[in-house]
Amino acid sequence: MIIVLLGPPGAGKGTQAARIMEAQGLVQLSTGDMLRAAVAAGTEVGIKAKEFMAAGKLVTDEIVIGIIADRIEEDDCRDGFLLDGFPRTVAQAQALDKLLNDKDRKLDVVIEMKVDDESLVDRITGRYICAECKQGYHDTNLKPQKADVCDGCGSTNFTRRADDNRETVTARLATYHAQTAPLLPFYAAQGVLRTVDGMADINAVAVEINDVLSRL
Ligand code: AP5
Ligand code: MG
Ligand code: ZN
Repeated sequence: MIIVLLGPPGAGKGTQAARIMEAQGLVQLSTGDMLRAAVAAGTEVGIKAKEFMAAGKLVTDEIVIGIIADRIEEDDCRDGFLLDGFPRTVAQAQALDKLLNDKDRKLDVVIEMKVDDESLVDRITGRYICAECKQGYHDTNLKPQKADVCDGCGSTNFTRRADDNRETVTARLATYHAQTAPLLPFYAAQGVLRTVDGMADINAVAVEINDVLSRL
């Protein structure tokens, strides 16, 4: 199965991707995570991407399409994969169609996670992750079971993303509406778009996504 999770910053793409991965045994391909790793490692891609990310703008289509083109050729993507944060422009969506077409593959579904802009700022400014295993948390919505100890690995070391501040979030939202929202009519026209209520609580969203997948 090939799935795209589409939604604004903070919609819950990463949160739900982790659950879909577990339930469906699919690998998660997050261009945001890959770019952050490239920035941290100081690679050529990372050096190019850093300023765009800090400003809440999109990294060039050329860079992200290149990353995805290479990644989906790997063995663990043979039976399918879950895209989180890609495509994000119509040009990226067209490039993905072509990459898949060339291999006689196709997208099964694009799941739009719909959330009000006002909630997104709170979700993002409250977000933090475990520095060791990267499990995600939120100051009020999703705390570790034991205060300040990661449920996943027991670490007490947590970190926040450099772009998770109020100014950058506003820019990321504007970027989403201008450049990514046009993918909604693009995929609706292909008949693969399904929309879930991303305002519901995390477990309810997971149930709705499961429902969509089971009806494919
Ligand atoms: P990326 O890493 O993709 O960031 P994003 O799209 O801004 O999305 P986020 O990761 O912030 O949000 P999410 O939807 O994953 O939400 P999460 O599950 O964490 O991209 C970062 C940057 O990289 C971009 O700005 C761009 O520069 C570059 N980039 C990446 N891909 C690119 C591409 N294809 N082309 C060009 N540039 C690219 O949830 C957020 C918080 O809310 C968490 O704390 C969570 O616990 C909480 N939460 C989740 N669901 C719920 C719920 N239902 N109710 C309450 N709280 C919830
Ligand atoms: Mg994410
Ligand atoms: Zn951890």
